[in-house]
Amino acid sequence: MVFDKIIWLEEIDSTQDFLKSSYLKSGTVAVAKRQHKGRGRSGNTWISQEGGLYFSILLNQDDIASIYHIPLIMGLAISRFLENMNIDTFIKWPNDVFCRGKKICGILTENTKGKIIIGIGLNVNQTGFPDNLSAISIYQITGKILPLPQTLLGLLPYISSHIELFKEKGFSPLKYDIEDRLLFKGSEVIVKTNPPTVGILKGLSDKGALLIESSEGEKEIFGGEFTLRPLL
Ligand code: BTN
Repeated sequence: MVFDKIIWLEEIDSTQDFLKSSYLKSGTVAVAKRQHKGRGRSGNTWISQEGGLYFSILLNQDDIASIYHIPLIMGLAISRFLENMNIDTFIKWPNDVFCRGKKICGILTENTKGKIIIGIGLNVNQTGFPDNLSAISIYQITGKILPLPQTLLGLLPYISSHIELFKEKGFSPLKYDIEDRLLFKGSEVIVKTNPPTVGILKGLSDKGALLIESSEGEKEIFGGEFTLRPLL
């Protein structure tokens, strides 16, 4: 897959909403220096001050067999991109990338009217975050300020090759590499289902769901709005 069109915006409410309301082609990327109404999962705000990389990718829903896998596959692509910069990360199911116990990247996948819109917020050059956020940036790890356009151009081939692999071969060639990086794997966790699910995080199912070994047996939990935490 080639991202043939990248739209560079100084500022926008949200790159997600920009692509949603457009008639642009599949493969279009919209990137903004600042977002006024950046959105995260579960209706959260995604603080988007200058210094972070905020972008969304538009895909045709027909081209993607299952939307459930996308955040995990994006997490792997981003984790590998960061690994290439000597930054070791974990994938926190269902849609975050973590480094040193803090969030370095969030992924939001939405679908509407036959389109899939993948939004990625990668913390790149931020020098700090509000106290209530457990977040970290590449700058805080490496001490280096990175040019955002080059960072995006470096990351897109990782994203593209992972989407292509998923389209051609499905989830299985990616699943084990994601599980290798899965945060809390092998630990006792709590998932905020109703009622909450408590058990050992075993890994992922073929459908991209979380597998939890609970006292009632193995449970398969799908992304949705659930939050995963270690059971302390
Ligand atoms: C999350 O962790 O809750 C997901 C955060 C996703 C943020 C990105 S930034 C680019 C795109 N535009 C948005 O409004 N949100 C996504």
